[in-house]
Amino acid sequence: MTFININRKNVIMTLTLICMYFFIRLFPADQSLDPPYVNFTTNFTYPLDIDMVELVSDYRKGYINNADVINPFPYAFIKNPSHKCNLSEAEVKVQNKVFVLFLVKSAYENRRLRDAIRQTWGNERYLTHFNIKTVFTVGLPKAKSRFDLIKNESDRMKDIIQVDYIDTYFNNTLKMTAEINWAVKFCQNAKYVVLIDDDYFVSPESLVGLLEYSAEVRNTKRLYMGHKHSNSKPRREKESKWHVSYSEYPFDMYPDFINAGTIIMSMEFVIEAQIAMMYTKLFRLDDIYLAIVARKLRVSPLGTKRVFGTNVMPWDRFNFELLATAHHYKPADLQWLWRRRGRRTHRDMLPLSI
Ligand SMILES: *[C@@H]1O[C@H](CO)[C@@H](O)[C@H](O)[C@H]1NC(C)=O
Ligand SMILES: *[C@@H]1O[C@H](CO)[C@@H](O)[C@H](O)[C@H]1NC(C)=O
Ligand SMILES: *[C@@H]1O[C@H](CO)[C@@H](O)[C@H](O)[C@H]1NC(C)=O
Ligand SMILES: *[C@@H]1O[C@H](CO)[C@@H](O)[C@H](O)[C@H]1NC(C)=O
Ligand SMILES: *[C@@H]1O[C@H](CO)[C@@H](O)[C@H](O)[C@H]1NC(C)=O
Repeated sequence: MTFININRKNVIMTLTLICMYFFIRLFPADQSLDPPYVNFTTNFTYPLDIDMVELVSDYRKGYINNADVINPFPYAFIKNPSHKCNLSEAEVKVQNKVFVLFLVKSAYENRRLRDAIRQTWGNERYLTHFNIKTVFTVGLPKAKSRFDLIKNESDRMKDIIQVDYIDTYFNNTLKMTAEINWAVKFCQNAKYVVLIDDDYFVSPESLVGLLEYSAEVRNTKRLYMGHKHSNSKPRREKESKWHVSYSEYPFDMYPDFINAGTIIMSMEFVIEAQIAMMYTKLFRLDDIYLAIVARKLRVSPLGTKRVFGTNVMPWDRFNFELLATAHHYKPADLQWLWRRRGRRTHRDMLPLSI
């Protein structure tokens, strides 16, 4: 009896396993059940489906559409260097505005990178013919015990914006909206705003040369510039860090976008983007999100070869006369490179084209 019982159990188990095997083979649980992707070129729309140019224009005239706001900015600035763009009398004599505001996207624990930037390209006393300001943006640490680190650094340096969301890679879009909100609220006297990562090297006089002398830049009122990607497709493999599902983004392509490592914008574009973001559904990838917002505002990204998009080490001194920014650098690399290029002044500026 016992023998037969065990046998029957085994048969049932085996049959069940075989059935499960075929079931899984027939209906794999991946996106192959998704409908075909929607053609980006012919069918791109993104919520809210609204005339954004008209909405922003009305908003700025005081006709504020509160009913349709889907994306208010509910986060507080826990640390806020709100004095940053208040110019001293001496600075006003140089220029009655901030020429460039750098908003450096930084990770909580990257103190050494921030210090290296403060000592090199972020040193505000470097190019004295231009008012250039640098602030760092961080979120909340994942562990509460580390909260003190930023508090002390911020109290001493007074150059840290801390926003009350948890600092993770996929909250980078929140970090970007925080930066844009901060620039509009506390630094509207800036001519250009540069969003940049904390592992970048900047050649300030090359950047200034590009902004001051390039006809394309000067003639673009709503500037959205940097390393441009065209015809880029969403990653659909589940294993990819940048995996995006069909329900999150149903189109076969992304709009042309500027790589988030360095985004150079005029204040005019920043103001419009800040308003448009309140009416544009968030997207996890920050550079794509800004590109969607730009597209809704009918602003085309302007590509420039002065911003390096790949991981390079252009140690060659000559390269840096032609480059505004590049990455990936460790703190010691930044300092080494800065010493190697020597002290420059505004007279070293080259009239660069894009
Ligand atoms: C999308 O539409 C455009 C214009 O009709 C066409 O050229 C393109 O091949 C289409 N893309 C796909 C992936 O079908
Ligand atoms: C794409 O657009 C065409 C017309 O431009 C329309 O006929 C079609 O239904 C749209 N397809 C989707 C999936 O929205
Ligand atoms: C900046 O300057 C304005 C005008 O002088 C002043 O009202 C404001 O309080 C200053 N803000 C900070 C944070 O110092
Ligand atoms: C922060 O500063 C306080 C007072 O200066 C000091 O007691 C504390 O140890 C510092 N904390 C860290 C993490 O540096
Ligand atoms: C982003 O920050 C919010 C607010 O702190 C938090 O609730 C959320 O979990 C964070 N998202 C991710 C993907 O970490």
